[in-house]
Amino acid sequence: MSKKQFFLVIMVFTGTLTSISQEPKIILTPKPGPEPRINGTKIFGVRPGSPFLFIIPATGKRPMKYEVLNIPAGLRCDPATGQITGSLNGRGEYLTSFKVTNELGSAIREFKIVCGDKLALTPNMGWNSWYVWENNVTDKIIRNAADAMVSSGMIDHGYMYINIDDCWSGKTGSSDSTLLVEPRDKNGMINSNRRFPDMKSLTDYIHSKGLKTGIYTSPGPFTCAGHVAVYGHEEQDIARFVEWGYDFLKYDWCSYDIIGRKDTLPDLQKPYLLVSEILKKQKRDIVLNLCQYGMGDVWKWGKEVGGQSWRTAGDLGGSFEGIGTALFRDGFDVYSKNSLHLYGGPGGWNDPDYLLLGYLSNWNGKTVPTPLTPDEQYTQVSLWSLVAAPFIFSGDITRMDDFTLSLLTNDEVIDVDQDPMGKPGYRVSKVGDMEVWKRKLEDGSHAVGLFNRGKTETTVTALWADLDISGYQKVRDLWRQKDIGNLKDKFITRVPSHGVVMVRMWPLKGK
Ligand code: GLA
Repeated sequence: MSKKQFFLVIMVFTGTLTSISQEPKIILTPKPGPEPRINGTKIFGVRPGSPFLFIIPATGKRPMKYEVLNIPAGLRCDPATGQITGSLNGRGEYLTSFKVTNELGSAIREFKIVCGDKLALTPNMGWNSWYVWENNVTDKIIRNAADAMVSSGMIDHGYMYINIDDCWSGKTGSSDSTLLVEPRDKNGMINSNRRFPDMKSLTDYIHSKGLKTGIYTSPGPFTCAGHVAVYGHEEQDIARFVEWGYDFLKYDWCSYDIIGRKDTLPDLQKPYLLVSEILKKQKRDIVLNLCQYGMGDVWKWGKEVGGQSWRTAGDLGGSFEGIGTALFRDGFDVYSKNSLHLYGGPGGWNDPDYLLLGYLSNWNGKTVPTPLTPDEQYTQVSLWSLVAAPFIFSGDITRMDDFTLSLLTNDEVIDVDQDPMGKPGYRVSKVGDMEVWKRKLEDGSHAVGLFNRGKTETTVTALWADLDISGYQKVRDLWRQKDIGNLKDKFITRVPSHGVVMVRMWPLKGK
């Protein structure tokens, strides 16, 4: 009996069969144990002289003591919180180890700090306000999001950024008085609207938790939602973001159409080159996310123009009902058709948009559960980790059920996304609706996703020949965090409609 059939039988017996069309939310991720475990990225880039902020992500029973063994001069670690602060002057690689101790024991894991010009050595992990709060975002919402990232435990799995999307600046001519502010002060510096009365105190609040924070604007005169954007004030606005203390910038093409051309590559690159040159001069690391929906094959040059990630398609959730279709079209097919795995890597990542789980805006005034089925949600998170996409959740972080949290916090799946080698995966076979994707990982193993895009449950086979591996492989189910066995030649499994089975395979030496 499949897991779905089993669940239906249980529901009938317990008399809770209200809607058989509703797919059950089955939690596969085991709950973290009380023993200390260190999670998240194993490598982190910082520029010389920039303020350093990193909080050691670890699960386990509190209280916990945090240490950084072999910590480089210039940095210090708060033993009670795991926050590492300070700054590094010397360029180079610093090999440290994190040590985390509680009453049950200690965990130690290597952590490499690379002081140089490259940021985002692994895909960014965090939360963004757009798909749940869209035009209604406020200071309070952002503070609550930071609180929730800590209280939900997401911070313990490596999530780091709390990012404001559109709608924090003034909106000329708005009928809403909270948005009506002088767009800029007398020195030309941009003002936030009344929903954000004190940006510096907001970023201080977020940083005090060891988290980082992001902001959004457009190279044009207006953002997509019609708020004031940077055009003609590029230097001033970046100076403002530095003064406020932001760590991430999403730069959304939008109204740049009004003043810029997009006929040639230099046209498309111009606003991004301009902003990244300004960012490089700042004494603060601000990660740059290019948002221009894939125009001009941005993946081929996003890194060259200074982007640490680039959106590869239009808005995944532009139509609420269309999210499922967009997931397969933009997530799977745009990626495969354009061989996007050739372009992502440490310092610059393909960005197929946010994780659309939990409660989202339906663009009709309501916040409602994602239209993705539970299996589609497993599919989204699995694919994102296989292709090394940023793990940025954009549902309501203050209202996650155990299922949503379990999708976001499976450390073995996160380890695939955050693999330090940073080689994005790709599709190795497609037979009708059945697809197999693989990603090579630093330790010589492979992560493999067996997907079923069809309407009914089916059997999917991953052939070693397609995966370009041989011999016996130790196969482990990543969602369940359970070994499956030592297999040769192929792995065959049942996969639910629109679902996935995700495994990791280690070659068994001498076999
Ligand atoms: C565009 C972007 C979205 C979001 C909105 C905000 O549509 O692609 O991600 O930032 O603008 O208006």
